[in-house]
Amino acid sequence: MDGDGTASGTGAPGPNLLVVFHSRTGSTQALCDRAVGAATAAAGDEVHIRVLDAFSAGPDDVLWAHGILLVTPANFGYMSGALKDFFERVYHPCLERTAGLPYGLVVKGDTDVDGALSSVERITTGLRWRRVLPPVTVVGATAPSDLERAEELGATLAAGMAAGIF
Ligand SMILES: Cc1cc2nc3c(=O)[nH]c(=O)nc-3n(C[C@H](O)[C@H](O)[C@H](O)COP(=O)(O)O)c2cc1C
Repeated sequence: MDGDGTASGTGAPGPNLLVVFHSRTGSTQALCDRAVGAATAAAGDEVHIRVLDAFSAGPDDVLWAHGILLVTPANFGYMSGALKDFFERVYHPCLERTAGLPYGLVVKGDTDVDGALSSVERITTGLRWRRVLPPVTVVGATAPSDLERAEELGATLAAGMAAGIF
């Protein structure tokens, strides 16, 4: 991965997968890293992957993307403030230009992720993005099976984009 967070293939046209994540203490990032690793392994050079912290991602990144993976902790029954900030900045610039964008979602919490999940889905519904795979939700300590579910999500999203399914 180079300095701007682009993990592979910056030159050729082709499906671009944007990963927008936030993590304060690393537990959400661990899930994100596994999803990105699996996405990279699954799609190879066929999908260009750009990984950005939510505070660094903006409208140009969303307009670049043919698919998005959102990864957030649950904070105060909502998505992280960072991901909310991302949505506040991209919503209007992207509203009329990204309808139908396929996305996947990972939410990590300690006790209850339902509010975080629905907060993301409310906004993506407004944007008319399409969640193309079931969300990966992790409550409490991350188990190996949770990391595997994150890998499966990343790999399936990238492979589906490479195959033109999403
Ligand atoms: C301010 C704050 C609010 C939180 N609110 C929730 C919550 O509403 N639901 C929940 O399940 N976990 C909540 N948590 C726990 C975090 O979601 C959880 O520890 C998560 O794994 C943190 O991710 P990170 O390690 O990537 O920063 C909260 C944590 C903090 C610091």
